Amino acid sequence: MQQLRKVLVTRRIPLAGLRVLSQAAVCDIKQWNSDEPIPRAELLKEVTGAHGLLCLLSDKVDKEVLDAAGPDLKVISTLSVGFDHLALEDIKRRFPSKLCGEGNAGRGIRVGYTPDVLTDATAELSVALLLATGRRLPEAVQEVKNGGWKTWAPEWMCGYGLSESTVGIIGLGRIGQAIGRRLKPFGVRRFLYSGRQSRPESAAELQAEYVPLDKLAEESDFVIVSCSLNPETAGICNKDFFRKMKKTSVFINTSRGAVVNQEDLYQALVSGQIAAAGLDVTVPEPLPVDHPLLTLKNCVILPHIGSATYATRNTMSVLAANNLLAGLRGEPMPSELHL
Ligand code: GLV
Repeated sequence: MQQLRKVLVTRRIPLAGLRVLSQAAVCDIKQWNSDEPIPRAELLKEVTGAHGLLCLLSDKVDKEVLDAAGPDLKVISTLSVGFDHLALEDIKRRFPSKLCGEGNAGRGIRVGYTPDVLTDATAELSVALLLATGRRLPEAVQEVKNGGWKTWAPEWMCGYGLSESTVGIIGLGRIGQAIGRRLKPFGVRRFLYSGRQSRPESAAELQAEYVPLDKLAEESDFVIVSCSLNPETAGICNKDFFRKMKKTSVFINTSRGAVVNQEDLYQALVSGQIAAAGLDVTVPEPLPVDHPLLTLKNCVILPHIGSATYATRNTMSVLAANNLLAGLRGEPMPSELHL
């Protein structure tokens, strides 16, 4: 009988994924069965000797974790499309060629992630946040509750709509395109996008124009951040960027908090440099309840819920489990991050 592979699951996850793992009958599963993140000390202890690690975007998997795991670690499967929490350079360097699956010669640890399955949910949430921010929904709801609603007034609670607008998307990947596709029927006049390179095929459907970041900031009525976080994108939405935006424009971020310099964003919002911001992602997460951004009426903050539909999280859980199993078996993964 084949020896069971030791697997650590770092959080309570939708049961569908856990079932996939247990039914495969190849894993000895240890789980941090809580909605709270696994404490670092616990992670370092429990990962020891693991062959597989199923983690979340809130688990920093760095050299310390890899060292604690030891030489048997063969696969890391993250229940997320983002992978900035994984120290890929350290992961690539680990134990070359010893434990490779087919087609992965030269590296020991394989990485799975969950792209595509969360694109629709994340794009939908991005549109919801954009509308809520541009049309000031949380503020308006508050006015109803606190008696601020005195009468119908022509200039009260006015915001910004999409009709005839220019929308700038930073990062026209799968999610960026899906956001654009959903916004187009609202009457957007023009789409701009920025990124590492022009993507004519992705841009065709929206007839989006590839522009430098400066031009995107200057000409967009809505700026949407949808790029991945990496050394090139960290902090790109900073003082200079916000200074170039129109005073009437709305800034939305559903990618990663660190793409934005939050102090600069705060200044841009209080000084009226830009009209409003909607953030589904912040630094840190959770954002402390006394954070200055939370005092602003023109800043709508959500608790990183881009992919949070029941169906999407179930699918992510199953995909993460299948990635893990494929990695353990040395088979092609449904969604492998090619290092
Ligand atoms: C969410 O932010 C993800 O990376 O899946």
